[in-house]
Amino acid sequence: MDELSRALDRSDMSLEDEVLHAYGHDETEDLVHPPQVVVRPRTTGQVAAVMKACHTHRVPVTPIGARTGLSGGALSVHGGVGLALDRMDRIVDIDERNLQVTVEPGVITQVLQEAVAEKGLYYPPDPASRGSCTIGGNLAENSGGPRAVKYGVTRDFVLNLEVVLPDGEVIWTGANTLKNSTGYDLTRLLVGSEGTLGVITKAVLRLVPLPRENRLLLVPFDSPYKACEAVSAVFRAGITPSAMEFMERDAIDWSLRFIGDDSLSVPDEVQAHLLVEVDGNDPDALMKDCEAILEVMEAHGAGEVLFAETAAQKDKLWLLRRKVGEAVKSNSVYKEEDTVVPRYELPRLLEGVKEIGRRYGFQSVCYGHAGDGNLHVNIVKGDLSDGAWKEEVPKAIREIFELTVSLGGTLSGEHGIGLVQRPYMDIAFSQVQLDLMRRVKEAFDPLGILNPGKVLP
Ligand code: LAC
Ligand code: ZN
Repeated sequence: MDELSRALDRSDMSLEDEVLHAYGHDETEDLVHPPQVVVRPRTTGQVAAVMKACHTHRVPVTPIGARTGLSGGALSVHGGVGLALDRMDRIVDIDERNLQVTVEPGVITQVLQEAVAEKGLYYPPDPASRGSCTIGGNLAENSGGPRAVKYGVTRDFVLNLEVVLPDGEVIWTGANTLKNSTGYDLTRLLVGSEGTLGVITKAVLRLVPLPRENRLLLVPFDSPYKACEAVSAVFRAGITPSAMEFMERDAIDWSLRFIGDDSLSVPDEVQAHLLVEVDGNDPDALMKDCEAILEVMEAHGAGEVLFAETAAQKDKLWLLRRKVGEAVKSNSVYKEEDTVVPRYELPRLLEGVKEIGRRYGFQSVCYGHAGDGNLHVNIVKGDLSDGAWKEEVPKAIREIFELTVSLGGTLSGEHGIGLVQRPYMDIAFSQVQLDLMRRVKEAFDPLGILNPGKVLP
């Protein structure tokens, strides 16, 4: 504590219960693991000083972003120091000559998107929580969101990172270039490492020109499986939508109720929707894309398609989609799994999840980024007994992941492994692979002080 006090202003440290509690939970189930002290540095030098002190005294450090995570990556399960990056929230430089931006980790994703949009530039990764999540957390978890299907995930936009290592040394991982075949790719290794290898204190991100136009379609189906079958068919027809989202009936109903929207009435026979967006600069080309998409959808039994006419209608449909997660959470205790399979296997995954649910007696609400084969499976506690929730549901989750992997997929598409998916890592990786990952972790953090208890079983 003496060394932390020397490194930081008094107002950037807190021992108050209320603050410890606030920084002790994220959006993962109802888990709470407070740190013993919260520090909120303002500079890379201060982060380095915090890490040096904790390294000397072997104190656990958990990097914390905006606490919107869904795998418990930012929970201080071993107490120690909660290293909140929210005060490092500057957009350092927008380089319009090179279409790049340098940011600190505490910048809110939507704030970054809006700042670069003013200059006609686009940062496409946009998790559902983009209004509150921060770039640091997006980097830690390799977040995706709806636009990943056309543009790629967070990792695909990272050129270079400033990182404080667990012993307090500061490095840059690469270069500010679009191409780089120089040595091991530490940049890509750090992205998605969930704060276990180093603390990201600056990121140089790639931008693209902002597309001038988009079209948004809401496509109903009387069967969720038909909707999922239509997804890969669109891509095989030669179209790459900028978003291709799936919501089963309950997802849309619960979200409508959650946001209090009664303007959209969903006929009884509708069992799922695809929300499909195309973007670009040429309105005629977009219209042709929409026609081609409609043809595929009709061939797969779609009902009457809703074309969003105005910006307000588009915003409303996107709000509906983005609020599904919160709507489920507001309904019941739940567990969320972030399954991902090769796109064509999506119907098999959905069928399997429902079959497992019937056998174990739980309801699931499924939605997600269908174009990426990324299905968010929300297992609802509902009337299940505490015993079944604790003992039986983990077995069902194991079956869901085994199915996912057997279809060529893996455990998490964009939420990370963090704390809660850790027990299932053996399904995706052999002992040899896990040992290799452990040795990578040891190379960065031999004392095991940085975000202990995460990712590796
Ligand atoms: C979403 C978050 C949960 O897609 O990833 O809504
Ligand atoms: Zn998602």
